[in-house]
Amino acid sequence: MLIVSLLILVILLWVALFKYGRRRMYELAAKVTAPKSERPLIGVAHTFLGDTEDIMTRLQGYSYEAMSSNGGMLRGWLGHILYLFTVDANDIEVVLKTHMEKDDLHRFVQKTIGYGGIFAPVQIWRPRRKVMVPMFSPKILENFVDVFSLQSEILSRKLEARAGKGSFSIWTHLSSYTLDSVCETTLGIKLKAQDDPKTPFLFYLNKLLDLITQRIFHLWLQPDWMFKLFPQFVEHEECVRVLHEFTDQVIKKKREELKIEKIARPEADSYCQLQDYKNKSFLDLLILLSGGERGYSDEELREEVLTLIIAGTDTSAVGIGNTLKLLAKYPGVQEKLYLELRHVFGDSDRPLVKDDLPKLKYLERVIKETLRLFPPVPFIIRKVLTEMKLPSGHVLPIGSGVVVSIWGVHRHPKYWGPDADKFDPDRFLPERFQLSNPCAYMPFSNGPRNCLGYQYALMSMKTAVARILRSYRVVGDEESSPNPQMRVKLNIMMKAVDNYSICLEKRDR
Ligand code: HEM
Repeated sequence: MLIVSLLILVILLWVALFKYGRRRMYELAAKVTAPKSERPLIGVAHTFLGDTEDIMTRLQGYSYEAMSSNGGMLRGWLGHILYLFTVDANDIEVVLKTHMEKDDLHRFVQKTIGYGGIFAPVQIWRPRRKVMVPMFSPKILENFVDVFSLQSEILSRKLEARAGKGSFSIWTHLSSYTLDSVCETTLGIKLKAQDDPKTPFLFYLNKLLDLITQRIFHLWLQPDWMFKLFPQFVEHEECVRVLHEFTDQVIKKKREELKIEKIARPEADSYCQLQDYKNKSFLDLLILLSGGERGYSDEELREEVLTLIIAGTDTSAVGIGNTLKLLAKYPGVQEKLYLELRHVFGDSDRPLVKDDLPKLKYLERVIKETLRLFPPVPFIIRKVLTEMKLPSGHVLPIGSGVVVSIWGVHRHPKYWGPDADKFDPDRFLPERFQLSNPCAYMPFSNGPRNCLGYQYALMSMKTAVARILRSYRVVGDEESSPNPQMRVKLNIMMKAVDNYSICLEKRDR
């Protein structure tokens, strides 16, 4: 009995000290609006027990609550962990400029991509970002349009078997298209996932993303020692092994090729001039820009290329899928888009070339509006390491995480008017598009740690949607309405619950 009482006393003392150490956090959190569902001790943890669709619905609900709360901010305690949920563009701009460290939840991806730029600690991320920035210059990216074009031709041919046969899930086709494009531009290899959707790389990549999502939302899978007790651990290790082995082989081969090239061309140092970067894969560029033989190690290269593959595959596939779903709901928009395609391509069925892309202005508006209403990455979380007062007057406490709701800011009537939920691509007409703050539209995030691949992604998405629309009419099974409804889930990215079920009809040429 005495031992039990002592134990309780020690625990109470520990809790009191813990709370005392965090008194500033409690004081500041108390000034932020609490969500209606907040409960003592657990906060809002109980609201995340459902499936990935329920989780997304919750987070959408919190975004709306934040819109009508003081300063566009809501607090969300997950047990003892404090998150501050914001939809205020002015606050977001400051947060993204000043808080570069990613939240701890991202550590589950680190098992795969190690210190690859996207989730790396700031110290490691900064020099790596410097190496990557020139890789995404327009001069280099425009060389990739031929890859997107060729891959989109394959995609369109594969879809022929599905046209006119009722609804089907287009997801595997889209993710194979983006994976093939990303692998060719990143590694310089033809993966041919479109020819064989059971290709191990695609299978293990999808499986891994699924396992990471499970870990993020199932608290009992989070501590490493607990995770090891579950069967998912074995699957996870297998996925990581396959992905690592695959990329390691490509890197090894590339190193050998470069050695041979150097013997053949001793002036190989001239690689360091930008004009030589033409027709090179991201892997070539990573080796060269990081300092050639004295640059990145094989492990660093693997981390960086896997980052690009993971960052670039599902995001763009989701963007294309959402665009097709919306076009099915809005036949008027689809016809206007088709007229633009006819105007640019005429009767010809030729593949798209880079000079076509700037002419497809309506297509660009359609994709931008889709990314507004259905951003593939709907939330980003930054860690607060230093206390900071935001323009709204709220003060961020050290140790909390800021959840930037891209979904919320994109639907906020303050920035998009009373019809913020309406699908209207012409919002992006230059004469209409005036934002009070750049963070009111940020599908690719904002600030020094924004998405490096945004132009790449727009090019790839435009090329694929143009190719599909030139050959097919996308038909929806739902009535169009002023406000597009789509059931979505949070599976690392925000994806359609029905896995992108659509109907295609072949267009008469
Ligand atoms: C529709 C497609 C895409 C969307 C919506 C998207 C969105 C994002 C977002 C929201 C971030 C996080 C930024 C932050 O934390 O502030 C990010 C980071 C990143 N994305 Fe993308 N992305 C897309 C496609 C791509 C593609 C195709 C690539 C590369 C081929 C790419 C490469 C990256 C990289 C390297 C980062 C890390 C940047 C850094 O931390 O310095 N993304 N992306």
